[in-house]
Amino acid sequence: MARRSSSSLLLLVAVAAAAVLLAVAAAVPPTCERIECPAYEVVDSANGFEIRRYTDAMWVSTSPIEDISFVAATRTGFLQLFKYIQGKNAYNETIEMTAPVLTDVSPSDGPFCASSFVVSFYVPAKNQADPPPAEGLHVRRWAGDRYAAVRRFGGFVADADVGEQAAHLDASLQGTRWAAAVNEGRAEDPKTSYTVAQYNSPFEFSGYRYHQRQVYLLE
Ligand SMILES: *[C@@H]1O[C@H](CO)[C@@H](O)[C@H](O)[C@H]1NC(C)=O
Repeated sequence: MARRSSSSLLLLVAVAAAAVLLAVAAAVPPTCERIECPAYEVVDSANGFEIRRYTDAMWVSTSPIEDISFVAATRTGFLQLFKYIQGKNAYNETIEMTAPVLTDVSPSDGPFCASSFVVSFYVPAKNQADPPPAEGLHVRRWAGDRYAAVRRFGGFVADADVGEQAAHLDASLQGTRWAAAVNEGRAEDPKTSYTVAQYNSPFEFSGYRYHQRQVYLLE
């Protein structure tokens, strides 16, 4: 995920069925009608991508998790975060479930090497003034405005999908007025290639079930 102060661009790829992509570009993810999500504004949408602006979103993140599998690493990270919101934190405080769960992806160079993943939980407004600390977890804030290029997709996330979806996002941004900002943002955080924002699937095994799944890929 690219990180800069006020004018930076975070490349966020949201993926949806192609047929509904434009129709739903400005819609709130269905999950966010039920549980709290970070607010954002769509500042542009065209040709398979949208550009969003987030302001002061706060996250609790795992330490980097080495794994060959995106899906396995996300599950590992999510379980840590799930215990955190169930009260395994310095204040013994239970915290409301939110969406999305982010996974920052830092791919390895070789085909058989482990990649590195950081999984994050969105801190609800109620807890943002003083998020409980917890061993092995880190609070991070997207201070000020954070822009993201987003591609939306639905369905279960498979390890093979995420890189492919990220490539589609890259391709859709080529030649647009956002391309330079995306490259600049990347140069500032070369390690993280993209971030996947899952609104549904990490919650499946914890009792949450939704009819429509939405997965967002943030680059
Ligand atoms: C949290 O719970 C543990 C174990 O029950 C207890 O030892 C600790 O004092 C509690 N901490 C707070 C801040 O309530």
